[in-house]
Amino acid sequence: MRPLDVPSEAAVVANVAFAVRTERGSVRAAPRPRDNRFGSIRRHAGEGAGKNLDEQHRAVGECMLRKLFHRAGNRARFVLPPTLMSVAYMLYRAGGAYFQDGLVTVHNSDFCKDPKFHEAYALGKAPGSWGRQDVEWRAYVCCWAAWSVREKDGDFVECGVNRGGLSRAVSHYVDFASLSKRFWLLDTYEGLPEHLISEDERRRGILPGGYDACYDQVVETFRSVPGVQIIKGVVPDTLTQVKAEKICYLSIDMNNAAPEIAAAEYFWDRLVSGGIIVLDDYGWAKQINQKIAFDKFAATRGVRPLSLPTGQALIIKPQRAAKSGPT
Ligand SMILES: C[S@@+](CC[C@H](N)C(=O)[O-])C[C@H]1O[C@@H](n2cnc3c(N)ncnc32)[C@H](O)[C@@H]1O
Repeated sequence: MRPLDVPSEAAVVANVAFAVRTERGSVRAAPRPRDNRFGSIRRHAGEGAGKNLDEQHRAVGECMLRKLFHRAGNRARFVLPPTLMSVAYMLYRAGGAYFQDGLVTVHNSDFCKDPKFHEAYALGKAPGSWGRQDVEWRAYVCCWAAWSVREKDGDFVECGVNRGGLSRAVSHYVDFASLSKRFWLLDTYEGLPEHLISEDERRRGILPGGYDACYDQVVETFRSVPGVQIIKGVVPDTLTQVKAEKICYLSIDMNNAAPEIAAAEYFWDRLVSGGIIVLDDYGWAKQINQKIAFDKFAATRGVRPLSLPTGQALIIKPQRAAKSGPT
């Protein structure tokens, strides 16, 4: 919750008077009235640097209006219906909105401007991984998770790689070459195998195939990234090819429940404390079977997936998590 960030009317008036008087040079040594919650009006009006007196007065006036407007907004929170307030707030902040990939928010998304993330995202998008879509917040969640565990023991694993969009972004973002780890990338590289899709998933539109053959392209994409191990074949059959005793980052994105749960069960005991699993499909309506399966998987191990507004979820392995058991 943001605090009520509105100064009292008395503080506003005092600040304005002070700003105007000081600008005319009539008051030099007077103590500066402040509102500790919000700073002074002059600071918000730009301190007058490079402005003439008229511009100063206009800036101070605008600032006062903005504060009165905020005050009205804060009062309205307690009177108007919450939905209306939310819509009004979103319209007010619409200029900086993030609107991609099923997610609309007016909250801060400055990570998109971080040059390192920018480069990482561009590398992930380059192989055509996401078609014309953009998935910046999702990619950032993976980059953040991998970056957070980069100094822990263990390798990185991704099950469901397709053309390597997320894994390429992650490998750049964490400077993978500097980590002395391996990044295991498991996929059929030709779409979903028919026999692992349940009847219910089929009814919901999850169908076999669905992705073009891309193995050669992935080999090419990761040629310059040392430590990457590309494993072609059906999960769970290929899981034993991952020669890692410990892992710290596991990204799961196969669009159907059976191989995803098999991978999570296989890697759980190898996941180090504080290691992170990113579930790409957890919150997507069509993928409800994956959510149900992972809620059960997590409950059995005494953890809870953190559902994210991107449609993803995070599972963080605590210090003393339950060992794998029957689900
Ligand atoms: C949504 S895509 C992965 C997208 C990818 N994470 C990215 O960064 O763009 C799903 C991938 O899962 C793979 N897949 C689905 N079921 C699989 C299985 N049982 N074994 C191996 N790969 C599988 C598909 O071939 C497809 O490439």
